[in-house]
Amino acid sequence: MADRRDFLKASLLGASALAVASQTSTVRAASKSAAGARVISTWDFGIAANQAAWSVLAQGGHALDAVETGVMVPEADLKNHSVGRAGYPDRDGHVSLDASIMDADGSCGAVAALEHIAHPIQVARRVMERTPHVLLVGEGALQFALEQGFKKEELLTPESEAAWKEWLKTAQYQPSVNSEVHDYGKTGIPGGKGNHDTIGMLAIDAQGRLAGACTTSGMAWKLRGRVGDSPIIGAGLYVDGEVGAATSTGVGEEVIRNAGSFLVVELMRQGRTPQEACREAVMRIVKKRPNASKDLQVGFLAMNRHGEVGAFAIQPGFSYAVCDAGRQDGLVPAKSVY
Ligand code: GLY
Repeated sequence: MADRRDFLKASLLGASALAVASQTSTVRAASKSAAGARVISTWDFGIAANQAAWSVLAQGGHALDAVETGVMVPEADLKNHSVGRAGYPDRDGHVSLDASIMDADGSCGAVAALEHIAHPIQVARRVMERTPHVLLVGEGALQFALEQGFKKEELLTPESEAAWKEWLKTAQYQPSVNSEVHDYGKTGIPGGKGNHDTIGMLAIDAQGRLAGACTTSGMAWKLRGRVGDSPIIGAGLYVDGEVGAATSTGVGEEVIRNAGSFLVVELMRQGRTPQEACREAVMRIVKKRPNASKDLQVGFLAMNRHGEVGAFAIQPGFSYAVCDAGRQDGLVPAKSVY
């Protein structure tokens, strides 16, 4: 009997040792197949998004699949009022979403002012892969999404609706830049903790392929029809496989005026590091509108084709999340002008 017990124990130990060994070799194999891969994204909610993206990269997956998978996390997060479902609505109470996705070869797709679809990034990818176009907006974007089989849903949550109604009480129906400061940004600093928007995500996979994605519900209480930088290729997102990739967060109007993400990539092409390129793009905004820039936030995040990373913002408070084979949940504060 004792022999049998010992035999069973030994077998079980052997089995669990085998399981551990097999798990370890799977992790090793994943790390090996992910060597050189890295994903970065804007803000603290980028940590969870990066981990989802990493699950693709760790298996040797494509950077484009990784960024799409990653940004779907904040799109689905009911606590996140600046991206996807539960995003704060426009001043008329409609949740309208903007998103873009771009591959290393210049393929790209985007949607703007899209209502009732929880994952605009997936629709953006369909625009890229299944139409001859780059950007679909409003009713047309919704029509396309429904034709593609996406489900029409109410995206305004009770919490977001209550916040909008609170805003209506005092705002006199006037949209304002950084309005988020006044409701859930308790620090009062534009771009401070709790006062941010937009997930922009950039990834390089183990084969050195770059890709990016950007998605947002845009400025809270915006004018109906307002579109920010996130779905505008060259503004909120730009990827060039020969050089690098960039994305932005903050007041989209300022980014559009300066073709921000395209500028960051072009500066990297001329030899700047990712951080130098982001800083120069931020300084262009500040130089053009020195007074206005004191009260608004724009941040750029960039990665070059070697996987080197940099960021810069107008205001303090902008941080970005980094995930690679060495660190899964790093959050790095960006340098800023002020
Ligand atoms: N950066 C997002 C927006 O301005 O809509």
